[in-house]
Amino acid sequence: MGEGVKIRAAILTTSDTRKPENDVSGSRLVELLRPADAEIVATVVVSDDIDEIRGALANFVSRDDINLVITTGGTGFGPRDNTPEATRAVIEREAPGIAEAIRHESYMKTPMAMLSRGVAGIANGTLIINLPGSPKAVEECFDVIRPVLQHAIDLVLGQTEHQGK
Ligand code: MTE
Repeated sequence: MGEGVKIRAAILTTSDTRKPENDVSGSRLVELLRPADAEIVATVVVSDDIDEIRGALANFVSRDDINLVITTGGTGFGPRDNTPEATRAVIEREAPGIAEAIRHESYMKTPMAMLSRGVAGIANGTLIINLPGSPKAVEECFDVIRPVLQHAIDLVLGQTEHQGK
């Protein structure tokens, strides 16, 4: 790491109950992203309302100073779990390998991984990745994406030279 495009991240927590004061999963993501060479540009908490989530994502995607959005929460089977649908409404291209790897690795830890419908995708030079809502899930899932994060952002922004070739 250290080489490549600077990761400029926004963290979006979706929850009907969490507020910025008690957003433990969003805070955990900040702690995980900083040592991964990322600048944290924004941390936002919205309700589980699909229009609110879509609006927040669309705003992040429109900004030139953000190239990564990680969401936490709202990926389950509940009637108010709307994050995947809001994400699909914003992305231009899916990044299914990221969601597949997260679910696969998570399933090695807990069968409950089957209950996350999280997706990942790209829009306007921004990579969006959905993670589940608990701090434990955030930690486990971040471990999965950490090794590819820098190269993923480089590719999204068109820096396609392969290292060491
Ligand atoms: N993935 C990992 N790695 N670790 C976890 O503890 N929890 C699961 C799942 N994925 C979990 C996980 C559970 S219990 C649920 S209900 C779903 O994520 C959806 O969580 P969400 O609705 O908070 O997004």
